[in-house]
Amino acid sequence: MSTFKAVRIDKDDAGYRAAFVDFDEKDLMDGDVTVRVTHSTVNYKDGLAITGKSPVVRKFPMIPGVDFTGVVETSASPEFKPGDKVILNGWGVGEGHFGGYAQKARLKSDWLVHLPEGMKPEEAMAIGTAGYTSMLCLMALEKHGVTPSMGPAIVTGAAGGVGSVAVALLKNAGWHVIACTRRPEEGDYLKSLGADEILDTKEFAAPPKPLMKERWAAGIDAVGSLTLAHVLAATKRMALLPLAVWRRAWTCPPQLRPSSCAMSRCWAWKACNAPSRCALRLGRG
Ligand SMILES: NC(=O)c1ccc[n+]([C@@H]2O[C@H](COP(=O)([O-])OP(=O)(O)OC[C@H]3O[C@@H](n4cnc5c(N)ncnc54)[C@H](OP(=O)(O)O)[C@@H]3O)[C@@H](O)[C@H]2O)c1
Repeated sequence: MSTFKAVRIDKDDAGYRAAFVDFDEKDLMDGDVTVRVTHSTVNYKDGLAITGKSPVVRKFPMIPGVDFTGVVETSASPEFKPGDKVILNGWGVGEGHFGGYAQKARLKSDWLVHLPEGMKPEEAMAIGTAGYTSMLCLMALEKHGVTPSMGPAIVTGAAGGVGSVAVALLKNAGWHVIACTRRPEEGDYLKSLGADEILDTKEFAAPPKPLMKERWAAGIDAVGSLTLAHVLAATKRMALLPLAVWRRAWTCPPQLRPSSCAMSRCWAWKACNAPSRCALRLGRG
């Protein structure tokens, strides 16, 4: 019998709990690659999973850990061989499939990427899934040809995980960055990351009005709801807004409906990976 240390979440008649356990390797879930995990992060979802504050875990028992780096031990995939250093981000790992808070993980090779040359595993996990998400947002802006010459970029939830990295990435890419936060006391921190202006989320407390002034050319939104409605309503024509919160956009809260905001100027649908389900599409000009 081969066992390793893992954090296991259980939910049964005795309640919801997380504990360190000796986990039997034969009890790992199916997958064509087994990885010796070296590093993971504490993602927001991991916090929710471990405390049970939100139902992010979909199967019990569960090993949390939505991301990790590690070294391939065994592989039935031609893409990976023993000794390869790999990264895992997302794919429902730590929610529906055993995750990175364990010394071993077994999963589908499709979910893994090779650790880039020159990057240390701890560096990859310091960036984490939040930083990775921010970079995907910046890449979406670049893919659609939105450039700093078109105007400023706004980041909402700027002092949070996705937002803070987004501020730094946008600044590094040459943008004038407006950091939108509920915590203006974090202004110095946000400026140290690269924010040029701090905007208090309070400004977005009431629903946006139609035909609002165009204030930014791009945005990375990590908040959704009214905040997102404001960001969209003041986005310049032909600009783009990748959303860290796609799901909230799909559900299209009333504030996002074309009749109640300046959707005719919104081109965010271009970035959406499910445009047919997104009511924003109806508002394109
Ligand atoms: N973290 C990831 O790996 C990841 C990956 C993909 C998608 N996402 C999604 O991205 C979103 C943000 O995730 P995160 O990890 O950055 O979370 P986070 O660290 O908790 O940051 C969220 C930020 O949103 C702002 N915020 C929270 N509640 C608010 C409210 N009621 N009104 C206005 N602003 C509010 C706060 O910003 P201020 O402190 O600046 O006010 C908070 O720091 C979530 O929807 C998440 O599901 C996250």
